[in-house]
Amino acid sequence: MEFVEQLKASVDIVKVIGEYVPLRKAGPNRYAGRCPFHTEKTPSFSVSSQHQYYKCFGCDAKGDVIKFVMEFHHLTFPEALKDLAERNGIPMPVRQEYHNTESKLRNALYEMHEIAVRAFRANLNGPAGGDARAYLQKRGLSAAAIEHFELGFSDRSGQDMVKQLRQFPAEQLEVSGLVGKREGGGYYDRFRGRLMFPIHDESGKAIGFGGRALGAGEEPKYLNSAETAIYKKSTILYNLHRAKDAIRKAGRVVLVEGYMDVIGVYSAGVRNVIASCGTALTSGQVRSARRHSENMVVNFDPDTAGANATERSIQMLLDERMHVRVLQLDGGLDPDEYVKQFGAETYQEKLENASGYFLWLAERARKKFDMRTSDGRIAGLKFLLPAIERVSDKLERAMVAGEVADYLGIERGLVLDEFRKTAVKGQTRPAAKPAPALSMSERILVRSLVADAGVRAVLVPRLRASPILENYASRAILAVIFALHDNEPDFTFHALEERLDEGQSSLLAETVLADNTDEVFTREQADSYLRMLELEERKAAMGVLRARLKQAERAGDMPEAFRLMQKMTELGRPVERGIEPGV
Ligand code: UTP
Ligand code: MN
Repeated sequence: MEFVEQLKASVDIVKVIGEYVPLRKAGPNRYAGRCPFHTEKTPSFSVSSQHQYYKCFGCDAKGDVIKFVMEFHHLTFPEALKDLAERNGIPMPVRQEYHNTESKLRNALYEMHEIAVRAFRANLNGPAGGDARAYLQKRGLSAAAIEHFELGFSDRSGQDMVKQLRQFPAEQLEVSGLVGKREGGGYYDRFRGRLMFPIHDESGKAIGFGGRALGAGEEPKYLNSAETAIYKKSTILYNLHRAKDAIRKAGRVVLVEGYMDVIGVYSAGVRNVIASCGTALTSGQVRSARRHSENMVVNFDPDTAGANATERSIQMLLDERMHVRVLQLDGGLDPDEYVKQFGAETYQEKLENASGYFLWLAERARKKFDMRTSDGRIAGLKFLLPAIERVSDKLERAMVAGEVADYLGIERGLVLDEFRKTAVKGQTRPAAKPAPALSMSERILVRSLVADAGVRAVLVPRLRASPILENYASRAILAVIFALHDNEPDFTFHALEERLDEGQSSLLAETVLADNTDEVFTREQADSYLRMLELEERKAAMGVLRARLKQAERAGDMPEAFRLMQKMTELGRPVERGIEPGV
């Protein structure tokens, strides 16, 4: 194993991992970042330059530099050695055992794709490429862009690629995705007479193609490579290998729909742009992008398909903890057309000012449903709930719900009720945990609400609009109280109790029945409780804004930062500490 030791001694694990995972110095010999092997919010991935070792404290991925390369690129041990050796210019001893069939096939596929890229490009520049060249010119692509993106043209005969690849054995050819098998025997080119867009993996190797029909109305408009041993569609993003440095620098990634959009936007100078290649956005793709930035601007075509895709992507992106904004360009232009017409600067400006995904969704809800009727407003709310529920921070989620309510013209309390309902449902599932202790004021509050319809009449409307309640251990109980308050204002303890699950019901019992005091709010105490609530709300809102501001600053997003600072000023100065919940 001498070569392995030699290899490990001559590469630095920090540099290798740093290519794919943003790392920051966390100690004299230690670096930290977000784990590339699982989804996480706070960095628990640690790389030691001293021990040349990585470890994730979240998912327990760990190992040396070779292990990382194996896991990250899904390579076998010998392939990982080869990859590391090649990238670092270290000659590999030729050894039979380093070449198993699996890696042989992969190497053959890489080679075939290199050959294909070359052949398609030659075709585009040759006599058969006239129409394709004219088409590209009409679409406004410069010669430089055509070169840079290695665009090509597939021969019309259907036999050219077969010929180019004849040196490869049938079993490799058949799984290359580049040719098909004819029924009567023999092979044909999968791509014929199409404009060819090579697709690369993150290290820049060509692994597949998108092929656009030249004629209008020719179906399918785009033909994409099938999955192969080197092309895993669910993790590959078009242009990521070129865009990744720019993505890190800009602190955000721009997601567009099509190959042509990427090329148009990139050529205009906005380099942090990527696209999915002919599939709906997948979580694997999002993770590939997120390693470079957590901020994404989704900029799909301004048509129905684009809007639907945006809607789906938002849900997916939120599930993967991305910070999402949406840019919808005006004038019915897609990104490619837009930069051509208005230039990169205007486009960049639009990106800076892209609205939060929420505003976009809310506007969409307003278009979809009639906000003048209460049915329409409820439908709009239902439409927005899944996105609200995906905001992972409880308090922020409740705030967002409030903002949405204002926007739709729905009472805040109604929206918060809606999600407490799902919270109640959600809480019946996990096994009954020991009931969390309630603070003194929370106890008195629950007792007062249970005891007195008069207190409820005063407090319920105000309470249900408060996001602060999301942090209460009794929130599920409160949600049921609010619902009952609407339907049977004089409900009994029993009516309440039978609507709770076991854990909640024992919490209620402990609060209302087992306490050795029956203290409930006096009128003045209720008032001072409400004042306290208001302070808490402001403090919380400020906290959320401050966190967003930090994020915006880190991402270098100044317009957003200014907007947030303005909001903070409007909210007033931060509330002083020292006022504790309670009377
Ligand atoms: P578009 O139809 O918007 O194409 O599809 P485009 O990229 O903007 O191309 P132009 O400007 O019309 O020439 C967006 C993306 O959806 C995928 C492709 O990845 C395309 O880039 N797609 C589209 C397919 O995979 N198959 C299709 O038939 C159509
Ligand atoms: Mn398009």
